Amino acid sequence: MRVLGIETSCDETGIAVYDEKLGLMSHTLYSQVKLHADYGGVVPELASRDHVRKVIPLIRQALDEAGCQFSDLDGIAFTKGPGLVGALLVGACAGRALAFSLGIPAIGVHHMEGHLLAPMLEDTPPEFPFIALLVSGGHTQLVKVDGVGQYEVLGESVDDAAGEAFDKTAKLMGLDYPGGPRLAKLAAKGEATHYKFPRPMTDKPGLNFSFSGLKTFAANTISAEPDDEQTRANIARAFEEAVVDTLIIKSKRALKQTGYNRLVIAGGVSANSRLRANLAEMMSSLAGEVFYPRPEFCTDNGAMIAYAGIQRLLAGQTEDLSVKGQPRWPL
Ligand code: KG4
Ligand code: ZN
Repeated sequence: MRVLGIETSCDETGIAVYDEKLGLMSHTLYSQVKLHADYGGVVPELASRDHVRKVIPLIRQALDEAGCQFSDLDGIAFTKGPGLVGALLVGACAGRALAFSLGIPAIGVHHMEGHLLAPMLEDTPPEFPFIALLVSGGHTQLVKVDGVGQYEVLGESVDDAAGEAFDKTAKLMGLDYPGGPRLAKLAAKGEATHYKFPRPMTDKPGLNFSFSGLKTFAANTISAEPDDEQTRANIARAFEEAVVDTLIIKSKRALKQTGYNRLVIAGGVSANSRLRANLAEMMSSLAGEVFYPRPEFCTDNGAMIAYAGIQRLLAGQTEDLSVKGQPRWPL
């Protein structure tokens, strides 16, 4: 089976071709970052229009790079949700219509399932079961994964997602969109000893997160301290340490609670190098294993949708003929 994957849930148009036997054959990505930069965040209407412009040329490019034609495809997977409704509908319309015209099945994929299966695209994929720490701009979740489609959300953020907290704090510090990676870069120049930020909800039992208070703590610290580059870097460092520490404490708790010893980290924030390094250290102290997607598959991409889609299609699931986007959709 060979599947085309289409991702259009937010500000990235990602297309990929995945073959059951050959693995990932091609993947293309167009990021709208420049388009939204002047607005300090994603403008949904502009995102939808740009997906409309890019989706067909990128599908052609992905097929060319895979050396195959429309007639070589056996199924089409598109991100059905969660995400921006207009953006989702572009991928859903393109995917559903293409599948109908080719007489092949289509499948709507959950965006977070795409993220949590992304490490399966690597040369040494994790075996089931594992705990997945999903950290993106819209979600922060700890998920017990016993197999494809066998997911139990153990905990999640009660307010802002980790990526959202990174982005909002970056904005407070005058950093351009997308703020997360920029804040991380600034934090690398900071010293850890100057400020101590709280580790929210770590003193309470349970696996939920809360990150909105950290943003407020950052706002108060920024306004109370001098406005120079080194101070900003120190604040960025303290903020990053707090988010990373909190994610590590809760991940450790989830592993202990389930008795699992494999941890998968996925979603945009999993590109954060401090998080990766500290989690690797924590997992080696527990004699466990940690798995990440390669950096380009941490953030949104078509490959993870093609992979999740082929698993669903191989299991016999398909989408009916209606075109659906599901902006809110629990995992
Ligand atoms: O998974 P993703 O590409 O899109 C969503 O599904 O949300 O994640 C994007 C999020 C943004 O909030 C971005 O700031 C954050 O991931 N991010 C990072 C880093 N790279 C991306 N946050 C912290 N450090 C990074 N290096
Ligand atoms: Zn995502």
